[in-house]
Amino acid sequence: MEPKPYHPMLRLFNYQAPVKVVYGVNAIERLNEELKRLPFKSALLVTGPNVGKTGVCKRVRDALASSGSVEAFTVPPEPDSEALLALAGKARSLKPDLVVGLGGGSSLDMAKAASMLAANDKDPASYFRGERIANKGPPIVTIPTIAGTGSEVTPISVIADRGLKLAIMHYHIYPAVSIVDPALSLTASPAATASSGIDALCHAVESIMSIDSNPISTALAFDAIGLVDDFLERAYCNGEDIEARNGLSMASVMAGLAFSNTGLCLAHGMAYTYAYRGEKGQPHGASVSLSEPHVIEFNAPAIPEKTALIAGALGIDTDGLTATESGSEIACRILDIMETTGLPMELGEIGISPDSVDEMVDDLIANHGRFIAKNPRKPSREDLVGLYAGMFDDSEE
Ligand SMILES: [Fe+2]
Repeated sequence: MEPKPYHPMLRLFNYQAPVKVVYGVNAIERLNEELKRLPFKSALLVTGPNVGKTGVCKRVRDALASSGSVEAFTVPPEPDSEALLALAGKARSLKPDLVVGLGGGSSLDMAKAASMLAANDKDPASYFRGERIANKGPPIVTIPTIAGTGSEVTPISVIADRGLKLAIMHYHIYPAVSIVDPALSLTASPAATASSGIDALCHAVESIMSIDSNPISTALAFDAIGLVDDFLERAYCNGEDIEARNGLSMASVMAGLAFSNTGLCLAHGMAYTYAYRGEKGQPHGASVSLSEPHVIEFNAPAIPEKTALIAGALGIDTDGLTATESGSEIACRILDIMETTGLPMELGEIGISPDSVDEMVDDLIANHGRFIAKNPRKPSREDLVGLYAGMFDDSEE
């Protein structure tokens, strides 16, 4: 039998994940051992203002200080090009031979940027606008204190510049080692747990939906979806539930390893058009999850097999259902998780007006086309208007 031209066997793909993951409850105890394998004289510790005051930060600092000199950089919430400039000043004057990122996604992203900026001299923000990253910087160690972004294993760094999200994705900023200790996330607040955790679910779902999905990334993403489905609500309700924290930490790693190889789809692109449009910026995961159920319903008829797979990962029985019906079931389950974990359910809730739809569509097409390109169903302008319009609660009209 002639293989069909779109048969998976005829598709070439790359899969890479050069990061060493040291994983498990109390994995932080392996830090000294890992540092011995990364000889350094001068280390830059990149962390957030709250994490910087914790016992784990002192522990990491002491471990670094026992092998060399250590200086710290404190990352402000939602780092912008100004923070990047300050970071570049620090990294270029210090010339560290090791960079450690400790904290949430922003701290890990800025640690990757610090490594890159230590070895490349041009305007820091220019690298986030496509400037070539010629040189590889010092090795990066990531230690996440909350689960979801996947930044601990990805070669991606994101900043917000005047409301516009800019990202670097480059082989030179792959972490060398990631120490993923679920116990470090036990004190994360319920709201941060929800937003960050749902981001992992969105990464996994979009990685499977991506036109560049492959069997390796899909296997990782499938398990990540199941883990978030099992554990996000539990971790939200009881932050000290270590089994739930462990499930989310693993989901974050697996989804990160998946989407960094496949790219993300329409829901992430849409989120970037309204995350900063309301009165105050929205946490990344909370903004992405707003559009995810709508994008899944939109994509489902174009990808029936992938839709059945995502439904299966969520434990949904699709026997006898059409792809469109399965897509609706998936959307309902995600909306359930969002409701249980106190995430915003519609755009009005985050201060966005229906009058902004055209502007958001323009922004999406002009600035976030790479997410549209990865989406399995190509949306027309009318489709996009319809998707945004569907994200407002019409019960009050
Ligand atoms: Fe994300």
